[in-house]
Amino acid sequence: MPLLEEHVSLRPFNTFGLEVMARYFARFASADALRQLLALSEVQAGPLLILGGGSNLLLTQNFGGVVLKNEIKGLEISSEEADTHTALLRAGAGESWHGLVEYALDEGLSGVENLSLIPGTVGAAPLQNIGAYGTELQDTFERLEALEMTTGQLRVFNKEECGFGYRESVFKSTLKGQFVVMAVVLRLHRASAGRPANVGYGAIRETLADLGIEAPTPRDVRDAVVRIRRAKLPDPAEIGNAGSFFKNPELSQGKFDELKGRYPALPGYPLPGGVKVPAGWLIEQAGFKGLRRGAGAGTHGVHAQQALVLVNHGGATGQELRELAEEIIRAVRERFGIELHPEVNIL
Ligand code: FAD
Ligand code: EPU
Repeated sequence: MPLLEEHVSLRPFNTFGLEVMARYFARFASADALRQLLALSEVQAGPLLILGGGSNLLLTQNFGGVVLKNEIKGLEISSEEADTHTALLRAGAGESWHGLVEYALDEGLSGVENLSLIPGTVGAAPLQNIGAYGTELQDTFERLEALEMTTGQLRVFNKEECGFGYRESVFKSTLKGQFVVMAVVLRLHRASAGRPANVGYGAIRETLADLGIEAPTPRDVRDAVVRIRRAKLPDPAEIGNAGSFFKNPELSQGKFDELKGRYPALPGYPLPGGVKVPAGWLIEQAGFKGLRRGAGAGTHGVHAQQALVLVNHGGATGQELRELAEEIIRAVRERFGIELHPEVNIL
C-alpha cells in the first residue's frame, strides 16, 4: 500500500528550488498504486497536484493538499514497421525525457534529437507539447495512455484527441486536472532510412558549421542542441529556473507591421495566421535582462543570457518571482501593447 508522507519539503522537487511544504506527499509507480492513492480520503478532499520533474512549476505558497509524484518506469521498442522505416517507442510517464532521447539514439532511432536536454518527465511532455529547435512533441507523437481520476479507468488518446498547439494540449485546457498521463508512445525513424536531420533552426546550422559538420547524424544534432542549450539556459542544479517563463506571443500581421515600423530590429517568425515574436527580445528591450532583485547581490531576477528565463539565485520566494513576472507583463504591455502569458504553471 503506498503511503502518504506528511509535511514534506518540495524544494528537491521543483527546479526553481523554492522552499514550499506539501501537506501530504506520495509516489506511485503503477496504475494500481495510483488508484489506491486516489481512493484515500486525504486525496478526495483535495487539492491534488500530479508532479513530474517540477521543471515547469512556480510554487508561490505551501500546498495544502496532496502531491502525487509520478515514478512509472519503462522504455521499450514496442514494434518495428519495416515498410515505413519507423518503430514505436513506448515510455512510462515517470521516465526522464532526456533519458528517452538518449535511449532512442542508442537504439538507432531519430526524431526527438532536437528536443535533447529538456528537463522533466515523459508524462508531462504532452501537457504543453514540448518544443525546441524546430521540433515539437507532436511531430513524433503516436498516442498516450492516461488514467481518468474520477473513474480510475485507462483511456488512450491519439494525436488528434490531444489537441496539440504551441505549448498547448487538451490536458492544459478542456481536460485540465482530469487525467494522469501514464505512458507515451512515439513513432521514431530508423536512422538507416537516411532521413535528413532537421537543421532548419538557425542556431543549429551555425553550431554545426562551427564544428565543420556538413552531413549531420541525429547524434550530431543532439550534440549541437546540447551545446546551444548549455550556453544559453541556466542549469537548474546551479541556478533555480523553469526554462522560458512566458510563451512567445503571436501577433496579427497588422500589429507586427505597426510595431516593426516603430522598432525596426523587432524579430518575427511568420505563422499561418500572423507572426510570432520572441518574448525574450521584448523583455530585454524593456530593460529586465540580467536584473537582480532582493537582499545582498540579489536573490532572484532575469537570466543574463536569456531574458525569457526568470531565476532564483537562492533564497527567493515564489511570491517574489510571481511579482517580478507581473511587473514584466505590465512593462511589456505599456511599451509594446503586447500581452505576455506565462508558460510556467503557477500554483
Ligand atoms: P512538472 O513541472 O512536474 O509539471 C508540469 C505540469 O504538468 C503540472 O501542471 C503537472 O501537474 C502536470 N503533469 C506532470 N506530469 C503529469 C502527468 N503524468 N499527467 C498529468 N499531468 C502531469 N519546455 C519546452 O517545451 N521546451 C524547452 O526547450 C524547455 N526547456 C527548459 C529548460 C529548462 C532549464 C527548464 C528548467 C525547463 C524547460 N522547459 C522546456 C519546461 C519543462 O522542462 C517542460 O515543460 C517539461 O515537460 C516539464 O516536465 P516536468 O515533468 O518537470 O513537469
Ligand atoms: N532574444 C533576445 N534577447 C534574449 C533572448 C532572446 O533578443 O534575451 C531574441 C533573439 O532575437 C533570439 C530570439 O529571441 O534570436 C529567440 O531566442 P531563443 O532561440 O533563445 O529562443 P526563445 O524563443 O527565447 C524558445 C522556446 C524555448 C526553446 C527555444 C529553442 C518558448 C516560450 N521558448 O525560446 O523553450 O528551447 O525556443 O527552440 O517558446 C521552454 O519552453 O521552457 C523553453 C526553454
